[in-house]
Amino acid sequence: MSKVYELGFGNTENEIKIEKLEIQGIIPGWLQGTLIRNGPGTFKVGEQQYRHWFDGLAMLHKFSIQNGNVSYANKYLNTKAYREAKATNQISYSEFATDPCRSLFSRIMTVFSPKITDSAKVSIAKIAQRYMALAETPIQVEFDPDTLESVGVFNYEDRLVGQMTTVHPQFDFEYDTVYNLVTRYHRVSHYNIHQIVGNTPPTKLSSLPVNSPSYLHSFGMSKNYFILTEFPLVVNPLALLLWLKPYIENFKWKPERGTPFWVINRHTGELVSRFESDPFFAFHHINAFEQGDELIVDLAAYSDASIIQSYYLQRMQSNLNQLPSGNLRRYRIPLKGKTVSYETISDSCMELPNFDYARLNTNPDYRYVYSVSVNKEKNLGFYNQILKVDIKHKKDLFWFEFGCYPGEPIFVGRPGRANEDDGVILSVVLDERAGSSFLLVLDASSFNEIARVSIPQPILFGYHGAYFPENHEKSELL
Ligand code: CO
Repeated sequence: MSKVYELGFGNTENEIKIEKLEIQGIIPGWLQGTLIRNGPGTFKVGEQQYRHWFDGLAMLHKFSIQNGNVSYANKYLNTKAYREAKATNQISYSEFATDPCRSLFSRIMTVFSPKITDSAKVSIAKIAQRYMALAETPIQVEFDPDTLESVGVFNYEDRLVGQMTTVHPQFDFEYDTVYNLVTRYHRVSHYNIHQIVGNTPPTKLSSLPVNSPSYLHSFGMSKNYFILTEFPLVVNPLALLLWLKPYIENFKWKPERGTPFWVINRHTGELVSRFESDPFFAFHHINAFEQGDELIVDLAAYSDASIIQSYYLQRMQSNLNQLPSGNLRRYRIPLKGKTVSYETISDSCMELPNFDYARLNTNPDYRYVYSVSVNKEKNLGFYNQILKVDIKHKKDLFWFEFGCYPGEPIFVGRPGRANEDDGVILSVVLDERAGSSFLLVLDASSFNEIARVSIPQPILFGYHGAYFPENHEKSELL
């Protein structure tokens, strides 16, 4: 994947602002709003290279859609990690799998306070009326959605409360409440669940002790429960205090532990039970809901955590790299029994999954999941198609174009829709042939292309974004 590698894991030199992008096709009139995406803007600082897809300095991308026109702007998030990289031409903060060079590192950190990045590049959310760039550390960076200027670091957690969180908070729009999981590493570590109601400061809802915390990128939520799926990729907290290796390399895969589901009562914060299951790994919970005495949890699941190794840039540079395939699995947890079972809903490769979260989170009737995927016949070493899974009929639909590498698909529903998939899919696609990116607008129902909007430069492979409809009454974010 040499050319696409240079484009997708390179360096964005330009911060640009374009009022009117070139459009092929017609943008539906009802689609009025803003898509903001987050991801790395560069994998290189001076002569130093970041090592992993989850490293790099954060860059925001904004597509504003209005009256059939689309404008675009991009900007680096103005953080300490960014400013210091600019000033010194060196990587100065610890990322997911990259540490600054040792001599520099030891001068600027103590073992108990590693200089962890504030470059919040993983996702976007509106929390307590603020637009936030989210990282896996509880350091969130507020930005102005109009200008993309960074407003400042928003420590929504006290550092003492925990060191790592997820970039996938769960929203209860009815009660204007946001929940997130924060892991506190200590002699006895804790999984804490915090809630923010309206604009009030966060409060701790649940706190569960754990000896060897797991790497948790997301968590599940149904109407009455939180679900911590404790993948056996675990860390001895002492290793993190010593910090001899980059963050993620301190975690060890221990399949003998299995993957227990911790089911927590949402109202009391108490642990209901831990349900054992065979080992597996996932970054992303998709949806969860209760049905009779069962708790159903859908995830993009892998048989192990080797996907993390596959995302090292050195590995991805090789054409031979085959990404392990995540699949849509449905786990059934018997709330009154013991034995967890699962079925694979689709055997198509699935990552960066999405669905109509705003309307159907925790709802048993939800039917469609959208994701990036690797084409089985034309596997080019990275995600090169968009997948739609119909859970009800176990049918897959794809959007594929040779030489195109789509990013996370985001569903935007048509206002007043009756059918779940009446709307569009928005995805930023890297076009290897053109050497640039475009915003793809798909009909979410047929998966036919409605429009493509060209950007005059490539956008690096990013992770998550959010769409904010204009004049929305409640946050419809993902
Ligand atoms: Co994620």
